[in-house]
Amino acid sequence: MGESRSIGFFFLLLIFSTCFGDQTLDKITELPGQPKNVGFNQYSGYVTVNQQAGRALFYWLIESPVSRKPESRPLVLWLNGGPGCSSIAYGAAEEIGPFRIRPDGKTLYLNRYAWNNLANVLFLESPAGVGFSYTNTTSDLYTTGDKRTAEDAYVFLVNWFERFPQYKHRDFYIAGESYAGHYVPQLSQLVYERNKGVQNPVINFKGFLVGNAVTDDYHDFIGTFEYWWTHGLISDSTYRSLRVACDLGSSTHPSLQCMNALRAAQIEQGNIDPYSIFTQPCKDTSTLRHNMRGHYVSSQSICSVFSSYEHYNGAFPLISNMNVCIISPLFYQ
Ligand SMILES: *[C@@H]1O[C@H](CO)[C@@H](O)[C@H](O)[C@H]1NC(C)=O
Repeated sequence: MGESRSIGFFFLLLIFSTCFGDQTLDKITELPGQPKNVGFNQYSGYVTVNQQAGRALFYWLIESPVSRKPESRPLVLWLNGGPGCSSIAYGAAEEIGPFRIRPDGKTLYLNRYAWNNLANVLFLESPAGVGFSYTNTTSDLYTTGDKRTAEDAYVFLVNWFERFPQYKHRDFYIAGESYAGHYVPQLSQLVYERNKGVQNPVINFKGFLVGNAVTDDYHDFIGTFEYWWTHGLISDSTYRSLRVACDLGSSTHPSLQCMNALRAAQIEQGNIDPYSIFTQPCKDTSTLRHNMRGHYVSSQSICSVFSSYEHYNGAFPLISNMNVCIISPLFYQ
């Protein structure tokens, strides 16, 4: 009887570990320098997306606090852009993640605006070659593009949901910024197409969100110039020249007139952080600090990119020399 009970127990364990085995191996107990008793669970690891080439994508899941019932909250996939930027180093460490890095580069504090207050957030390094994601086939880095990025991310999702079955059928959103203005809708379309006609799909896709999205040159120019102008960053006349000189042109190969107008705009804007105009820029902040004492939101913004990079290299000692952004034409389609 003792034996059959222990065999039963063994089988239970086996079932448990086949369902949750990989997942429990991925659990993060604590990151170096993180605050104690954060009240939420974190996981990270690799999911192979192409066995033959040896491509594996790195993810970091940050669940909602246990007190906020993560099991009843949606799952949000987050993708940074670039193309070639790390979702760990930007999205998680600088933007919407649970932790911010202190200037010492060694300790973390909680970000009160973290998205995991409301949803379970899954950061993905994409495509292979970006951040901690890798490929064992060097030529992959030269043949990458939007299409494979979406396909690999889709395979990632399919395999990831197998590792985290508790998220199957959960409300699921795809979010991202900048060049993810391409990644997000393209992946969304794949998920949508492959869910078509499926009752109760595993990937229960509800919608997508993009911020500061790269859409196409025409709309991106119009949006950017309008933003500068309506926020008082450029003069009426510079706004007009930008619209005339740039709107119908290419952003990769702007005309001479467009470059001149862009230069004029840059001079008028002065030393600001264009991604966060109400926070102080990284350098030459003394006059700004003097003039605006107490009136700007204190944020580390772009300034802490390099410390985040060092910090997370230490936290996940998997790949040294991680690039925060490998902005290379190779990553464009
Ligand atoms: C890449 O190669 C290493 C070394 O041979 C191996 O350990 C790893 O599993 C491979 N990765 C994938 C995704 O196949």
